[in-house]
Amino acid sequence: MAYSGEKEAREARREKIIRPQKPYRNSHFDQWVTKDSGFWQRKHYVQLRRYQSYECNDGMRMDTSDDCWRDFVGYSFLAEYFDERIDDKRSWLIGTAGFTHKQSKTTLEYCWIHPFWRGEGLLKHAWPSFIERFGEFYVSEPRTNSMRGFLQSVGYQDPSR
Ligand SMILES: CC(C)(COP(=O)(O)OP(=O)(O)OC[C@H]1O[C@@H](n2cnc3c(N)ncnc32)[C@H](O)[C@@H]1OP(=O)(O)O)[C@@H](O)C(=O)NCCC(=O)NCCS
Repeated sequence: MAYSGEKEAREARREKIIRPQKPYRNSHFDQWVTKDSGFWQRKHYVQLRRYQSYECNDGMRMDTSDDCWRDFVGYSFLAEYFDERIDDKRSWLIGTAGFTHKQSKTTLEYCWIHPFWRGEGLLKHAWPSFIERFGEFYVSEPRTNSMRGFLQSVGYQDPSR
């Protein structure tokens, strides 16, 4: 059954609270999340995608269904947190990039990083690993101003050009 995340959706919509996503204790988000990663990871990806849809008003086209995840590969932006009260260190999910691979065409469908971690070079740092994994890829349109600025800064060329 598709995950609704209604409580988090309400929080984000009404109270503008957007939460980095905490893994279960002793669990780790995969660097690359696919349909074969734990189902719980899908839920957190969907949650961050929801935050982006509220911010960018670009529609919510993601859920946890196998249909949605069949051709999907996600990249996890992670930040380590140490909670000294319980002596516990975990890597929280603070952003995601989502790729699809359809008819031999790979597309970066979206990328969203929690505002607290923007402008710190996270996407720039991850970019070479995107190229290493996919080679050339498309970037979906329409693009936000920040994505346009980013693509210019890395000299991105559309593969069809
Ligand atoms: C777009 C986004 C993913 C960029 O990630 P980021 O980790 O903050 O980007 P980086 O820190 O790696 O930025 C690298 C370069 O991109 C450019 N850039 C980043 N944010 C920018 C902005 N808001 N406006 C213009 N250029 C920007 C800068 O040139 C920067 O280079 P510099 O560090 O040499 O100045 C992030 O800003 C974000 O999540 N934005 C909101 C969601 C969004 O717009 N997503 C794209 C739609 S798919």
